Amino acid sequence: MLRAAHGDDQSRKADDLLRLTPGRLARRLNGQRVGPQLWANRHLIASISAGLARTLITGGQGSRYRLLGHIWLELQRFLAPGVLNVDLADLRMDTTLVEGDVTRHCRLVLGALCKLLECRNVFEIGTYLGQTTWLLAHNNPDAHVFTLDLPTLDAVDHLKYEVTDPEYFVVWDRGARFRGTPEAGRITQLFGDSATFDFSPYHGKIDLVFIDGSHSMDYVRSDTDAAFRMLSDRGTIVWDDYLYYPGIYRVVNELSPLVDRPVFHIVGTRLAVYSRVDILNGGWPALKHGPPIPR
Ligand SMILES: C[S@@+](CC[C@H](N)C(=O)[O-])C[C@H]1O[C@@H](n2cnc3c(N)ncnc32)[C@H](O)[C@@H]1O
Repeated sequence: MLRAAHGDDQSRKADDLLRLTPGRLARRLNGQRVGPQLWANRHLIASISAGLARTLITGGQGSRYRLLGHIWLELQRFLAPGVLNVDLADLRMDTTLVEGDVTRHCRLVLGALCKLLECRNVFEIGTYLGQTTWLLAHNNPDAHVFTLDLPTLDAVDHLKYEVTDPEYFVVWDRGARFRGTPEAGRITQLFGDSATFDFSPYHGKIDLVFIDGSHSMDYVRSDTDAAFRMLSDRGTIVWDDYLYYPGIYRVVNELSPLVDRPVFHIVGTRLAVYSRVDILNGGWPALKHGPPIPR
């Protein structure tokens, strides 16, 4: 009993220390350890300001767009009302191993989320080539992945709401990444406009819904409604591109004060998350049986 109390005390002390900034933590631990000293770079302010002005004035559209775009993303990230910012390490996801290509590391994070949640039924809105579909199926051998996209290239001319991302409508090879792979046996490809598709067979049955179809506000709103109807009692919704499209940012921010559980953004990714599992307090189903087992 005494030992347990001692253990609690230790972990409270560790939690208090981890709440300090890295610089303060280094000073508290001992003078030898050095935290990141961003302010020590202040002599660079003049040259950075000159570079900033040069990029804005003569950098061309591409550089200007990237620079201002990154500043805007960070502002949105930290100024979103109601949506929490959570670091991957705080979610205790950082030791989970997933396999997949590195073009978008958000996919790997989503794969880890699916694994830690022990999802059995996953629904993706927006298949495209099927890279995420494959990754989810590959890393979650007990899961079945349903993935919905439009039936043909022409279907884009008859949609209920506004469609985004014209670059996706030049060639048509939906699901090419998983076709012919062993994972294809656990993937069901579905076709239709997500605003008019009949989701009723999936109501109450889906453990993870990944919303990544059209990114216009009306579509995100309608896909979000469909996602809530499909959620199982331990279900999770993940929105891709949360910071990147005004429609998604607005719908997710508006939703956050209205729902029964916190909505949070995983810092360093494009993802926003709502979950009926107590992820924020380490309630991952996979960790209840001990630390994650690497595959
Ligand atoms: C961003 S891509 C999906 C990327 C994919 N989830 C991944 O992670 O690799 C968006 C996809 O949504 C599809 N889409 C757009 N509007 C749709 C709609 N109304 N109904 C169903 N799919 C739609 C597009 O055809 C496109 O393939």
